[in-house]
Amino acid sequence: MALIEIEKNLDHWVKSIMGITSFQDLEKTKAELIGKSGVITSAFRLLKDFSGDEKKSFGERLNNIKSQIETAISLQKKKLEEYEISEKLRNETLDITLPVENSSFGGLHILTQSIRRIRNHYLARGFLVLDGPEVETDFFNFDALNIPEHHPARQSHDTFYLERFNKTLLRTHTSCVQIRTMKERGIPVRMISIGKTYRNDQLDATHSPMFHQIEGLVADRKPITIGHLKSELKKFLAFFFEVEDVAIRFRPSFFPFTEPGMEVDCRYTKKDGKLIITPEGDKWLELGGAGMVHPNVFKNCGIENEAFGFAFGFGLERLVMLKNGITDIRNLFDTDRRWLEYYGQ
Ligand code: PHE
Repeated sequence: MALIEIEKNLDHWVKSIMGITSFQDLEKTKAELIGKSGVITSAFRLLKDFSGDEKKSFGERLNNIKSQIETAISLQKKKLEEYEISEKLRNETLDITLPVENSSFGGLHILTQSIRRIRNHYLARGFLVLDGPEVETDFFNFDALNIPEHHPARQSHDTFYLERFNKTLLRTHTSCVQIRTMKERGIPVRMISIGKTYRNDQLDATHSPMFHQIEGLVADRKPITIGHLKSELKKFLAFFFEVEDVAIRFRPSFFPFTEPGMEVDCRYTKKDGKLIITPEGDKWLELGGAGMVHPNVFKNCGIENEAFGFAFGFGLERLVMLKNGITDIRNLFDTDRRWLEYYGQ
């Protein structure tokens, strides 16, 4: 193509480059114009027919045209790239408002649900809800609770010791939180603590080396009686089992940190194989331990002079199993999705 024609066509070429919408077309046009056998490249071959000033001006004009075409192509390429990115961004955004199909969201484990319910019951009754460490010293787990070094109660707890020398262990009950609470806050105090406890028991349908306890403590300078304990436990059990009334009885028992100590039972009956908690029940169900705070415990917490209090400690898993008809404690710690979905919330 003659130079004159090339110059005439330049505007048209630049305009059509600016209208190209695909990388493929852009590459094709680039090849047609400035590729190896492109129009402009071929025109350069005519240079050899010129000489002197003519050759110089021909070369300059051709170079100028080539660079205008190159500029147009690279600008258009950039535009296409930007467009591609913005399209990608638009098409690949996640629409989080879309409904999700066939999805299971998981839920709160029945133990978590129960812990929250119990907590709310006691918060509404003006109790503090406190936590204590699961790794304890033998002072808080035993000594302060009036369980001296060679007391048989220490053996019966089958403690997991972490380091015998340092006397650290996994707490065997939540009663340690009684001590921590009274040492830190003194009395009067009304508190509960729900948490994990550990005993070296073989895992079977009714035992687990890790389980939860609900600990309660009410202590004051004013007289507190077994009557107060009984009334508080009845309220809690009626709330927990969602029944009008619960008939309970105390059986003498021994805990070194209580005097007197007792086991708490409640009346129940069985109907169609189902357990029903009712004051009319003909059988007794064992629920947990309780008692009046032993004077030595007050002393060990630095509380001198007269003090009164009651405490109780119930196994959470046992209560949850009784309420929900669960017969194997291992279910609570398994990962069977159908089970978890059934009891989850
Ligand atoms: N800590 C006792 C246990 O684990 C339960 C208990 C708590 C008994 C408070 C009396 C008072 O068996």
